Amino acid sequence: MAKKEHYRSRASYKLMYIQEKYGIIKEGDVVVDLGCAPGGWLQVARELAGASGSVFGIDLEEIEPLDGVVFIRGNFLREETRERLRTAIVETTGRENVDVVLSDMSPNISGNYSIDHARSVDLVTHAFEFACQLLVHGGNFVAKVFQGDMYESLIRKFSAKFALVKGYKSDASRKSSSEIYIVCKGYCP
Ligand SMILES: C[S@@+](CC[C@H](N)C(=O)[O-])C[C@H]1O[C@@H](n2cnc3c(N)ncnc32)[C@H](O)[C@@H]1O
Repeated sequence: MAKKEHYRSRASYKLMYIQEKYGIIKEGDVVVDLGCAPGGWLQVARELAGASGSVFGIDLEEIEPLDGVVFIRGNFLREETRERLRTAIVETTGRENVDVVLSDMSPNISGNYSIDHARSVDLVTHAFEFACQLLVHGGNFVAKVFQGDMYESLIRKFSAKFALVKGYKSDASRKSSSEIYIVCKGYCP
């Protein structure tokens, strides 16, 4: 279905469902997508933010260029990559803050449930901390995590900074997948 409808990945539908339920991105928004390859979420974000918005993506892997999207290849965990992103945001939008941070980043999968959960929690925690530096007051954050025993403490941590925090399990995820999206709205620093 994704290919037929010109989206680059089935992941596009996950973001569309989240958008339908929670209204994360609006026209004119500045959106950052962490772990964006091959670009399915970027396409959806681009459509939602419209011509007056701006969309930025980071990934370890190269992507096919997308109209109206600024892509930065690099490891999000490295300060040098984040600095390139901050510079691109200022140069493109004249702003230092963004409206929405998305993270669909996945760690390398070991097949061991606890290890994969721990790696995923580490990634999402870095994404959250970065989002807290970057978001405007009232901004939104969505991040994927593999479920496990640290999930509840993540929810508590995120709830201290956002007005609304919900777990969302997408119908577009494979049934066997332990992935869940944490949807956070209304950043209050
Ligand atoms: C599930 S894919 C993202 C799919 C994407 N949302 C889409 O719609 O096409 C996860 C991505 O996270 C990226 N990733 C994982 N760790 C990363 C890191 N430390 N820095 C940048 N990208 C990372 C991977 O390279 C991979 O492309």
